[in-house]
Amino acid sequence: MSLLDAIREYANLTGTKKGCDHGQCGACTVLCDGERMLSCLTLAVMKDGSEITTIEGIGTSGDMHPSQKAFIEYDAFQYGYCTPGQICSVIGMLGEGNRNGARNL
Ligand code: FES
Repeated sequence: MSLLDAIREYANLTGTKKGCDHGQCGACTVLCDGERMLSCLTLAVMKDGSEITTIEGIGTSGDMHPSQKAFIEYDAFQYGYCTPGQICSVIGMLGEGNRNGARNL
């Protein structure tokens, strides 16, 4: 079973979206131990013991993550379906950059 299906069907966390289901669109992006991961291409069993963060674990309506605030401020939602994956991707990318010595954006 893919991590995406496990998240959506067994954990009932439906914020992570299934788009192409082939690793091409990024709608299913989650954070795995803080790094971006396409959950449609990842077997759930491969991540046993890992910390998986979905959009449900990032901010709340009353306390949004800075990337969520930026999406609102700069009208970056497009049609919204892929937004959870985009938010996870932004957060993961910035964390990965910081770990690799890149300066804060
Ligand atoms: S659903 Fe499109 S990359 Fe995973």
